[in-house]
Amino acid sequence: MPLAAITRAVSPSLNQCELSFIERQPIDVARAIAQHEAYAACLESLGIRVIRLPAAPEFPDGVFVEDPALVLDEIAVITRPGAASRRGEAESLAEALAPFRPLRRIREPGTLEGGDVVRIGRALFVGRSARSNREGMEQLARETAAFGYTVEGVEICSCLHLKSACTYLGRETILANPDWVDLAPLAGCRVIEVARAEPAAADALAIGDTVVLPASFPQTAGLLEQAGWRVMPVDVSELQKAEAGVTCMSVIFEARSSTA
Ligand code: GLY
Repeated sequence: MPLAAITRAVSPSLNQCELSFIERQPIDVARAIAQHEAYAACLESLGIRVIRLPAAPEFPDGVFVEDPALVLDEIAVITRPGAASRRGEAESLAEALAPFRPLRRIREPGTLEGGDVVRIGRALFVGRSARSNREGMEQLARETAAFGYTVEGVEICSCLHLKSACTYLGRETILANPDWVDLAPLAGCRVIEVARAEPAAADALAIGDTVVLPASFPQTAGLLEQAGWRVMPVDVSELQKAEAGVTCMSVIFEARSSTA
């Protein structure tokens, strides 16, 4: 099944983005736009069809499309972001995903952001972050139980989302910063630890045997290569000033019709 990715162009208001764990510094928006386009081209070079949504100037964080939607094999869950400024991003994602999956929704008082969800097979691990609450997690469990998914909370600290602290690479292996996540619920997995000098390197985007990783994490790239992965570095330095990771700038899924 071919893969598709939804992306959204960088908002001209990116400098007003939410920030939780990093200091604000000026972002060169033109450079961020160019880096984001190179990121999309990288996905295309991996055989992924990229569906580009136009920028939403009213949403500074709109480029981070992973957070308002979670796409599973059977359904897409339109989330309710914990950051109030981001809640309006969800509707255009819902429209873009409707041709591909039946939609479900996280509703008030639930909050959930896709960056907090790490999927390993039929297990959905959800970071207990400021952005995703217990009610959101319970709603996710209710919507997905019929399809055989389990949902389990994971403690995190010092970072925005669960995926800031660990991502799944395939081959029952996760890339993690163990200082930021309690790995006990993921005990069945082999762990590759990020390089100590690169604490934010755990957000990696695995496509088959290739891992897309920010170019600013060369030591962790080396560790992944030693472990047998091919690494594609992408320069996302301006987007990182908005607390970006490489997973959060796309929603990737098998491109089957919602009526199939
Ligand atoms: N700037 C990314 C976020 O806080 O949602």
